[in-house]
Amino acid sequence: MLTFALSIAVSVLGAADVVSPAVCARLVMIGELGLDGRVHAVRGVLPAILGAAEAGFTSVVVPTANGAEAALVPGVKVVPVGSLRALMAYLRDEPPPVEEDEDDPPVPAPADGHAVRSGPHRDALDLSDVRGQADARRALEISAAGGHHLWLSGPPGCGKTMLAERLPTLLPPLERSAALEVTTIHSVAGTLPAGQPLITEPPFCAPHHTTTRAAMIGGGSRRALRPGAASLAHQGVLFIDEAPEFSTGVLDALRQPLEDGAVTISRAEATTRFPARFTLVLAANPCPCAAAKVLECVCTPAVRSRYLGRISGPLLDRVDLKLELEAATRAELRYDVDVAESSEVVAERVLLARERAAKRLAGTPWRTNSDVPGPELRRSLALPTSAMWPVDKALIEGTLSARGMHRVLRVAWTIADLGDRGVPADHDVGEALELWKGKRS
Ligand SMILES: Nc1ncnc2c1ncn2[C@@H]1O[C@H](COP(=O)(O)OP(=O)(O)OP(=O)(O)O)[C@@H](O)[C@H]1O
Ligand SMILES: [Mg+2]
Ligand SMILES: [Zn+2]
Repeated sequence: MLTFALSIAVSVLGAADVVSPAVCARLVMIGELGLDGRVHAVRGVLPAILGAAEAGFTSVVVPTANGAEAALVPGVKVVPVGSLRALMAYLRDEPPPVEEDEDDPPVPAPADGHAVRSGPHRDALDLSDVRGQADARRALEISAAGGHHLWLSGPPGCGKTMLAERLPTLLPPLERSAALEVTTIHSVAGTLPAGQPLITEPPFCAPHHTTTRAAMIGGGSRRALRPGAASLAHQGVLFIDEAPEFSTGVLDALRQPLEDGAVTISRAEATTRFPARFTLVLAANPCPCAAAKVLECVCTPAVRSRYLGRISGPLLDRVDLKLELEAATRAELRYDVDVAESSEVVAERVLLARERAAKRLAGTPWRTNSDVPGPELRRSLALPTSAMWPVDKALIEGTLSARGMHRVLRVAWTIADLGDRGVPADHDVGEALELWKGKRS
């Protein structure tokens, strides 16, 4: 893709005095030029214009198909053009030519094949589609309220994928600055949904288990660095379905973004940093034979433990909520119709809990409980001894690590926020601890 083809062509025309070089010099021009003179859409228009605005340019020429995306940058006049002829007319202050109304070919999608969704999930998917699974629904709500990572295991067809796909429907829409940041990433990746210049809903990215390391965390050549799935899920959900099927190196590469909220890619001459702060959801069958019932499983215990053992300890250590599901019973599937809460109802509670956390964390760089660093949990957010006993007991028994303790405390704050308790009580800490260790439903 020749993002600068248009500016190269106009420079030549300026040098030949066909257009005024002085007029051209004040303009930023972005676009790919076809041999027929048509200007085609390109990737990365939004960050390019943000950069141009920062450098003091006030007018930009962009392909018509990128016009809406370009218009997101305040203080910059956008001149959308469909052809070199239209641009020439603009530069010479002549009336625009009548352009044939041909559809612009879409910007090529990345070849990585991630299922990326950032549109209006609310319409298509709803939490009330999921019957039964009370524990999983509760864990999903806690995850949404605090930005905590989630692990779901269970037999085929128990609803793991269904649940994970509905997590974004519980999250509040993105604030303006987050929306611009997310849109920038998708603009660079070429995954902006057609007709939707600004992404305002938290994205959902579900890479396939054949995904390479570069496609997962980003990579490519120096001139064409691409954000990976971890960045496409920034401010949203990264869903690793069938987790044991991924190669271990690819999953372990997620440890850097999980720690830093960003991916740093180093090449000989430059280092690029893509934001990658997402809520991770991992799903897995308990064994490779994927039996619907435990009794039907034909795997040996060694095979079973090796299968789940493919998810490394350090990765699982970073997952706050772990749940082992059973298939919903026939009774639940048939009679839970009226009691299953909708996404709208749950999202309301999530929003209130998030507001309580944001109020407590006002004046700090952190917004949600999962952002709070460990030392802060012991300082300004230290809990009374009476609330800490479940954690103290687990530490003495050796069933909880120091990192685990911090994760439990963050989740305990979220559970307290959901229940509008100013400070976590011992049962909040207890519930968080149970979910950290792994709860069987
Ligand atoms: N709790 C549930 N409520 C309503 N429908 C369900 C539930 N669980 C499963 N289903 C139905 O079963 C189908 C399969 O569910 P889903 O794909 O989420 O299962 P899964 O646990 O991801 O299975 P797999 O391990 O095979 O990927 C769903 O499309 C849905 O129709
Ligand atoms: Mg599934
Ligand atoms: Zn099995």
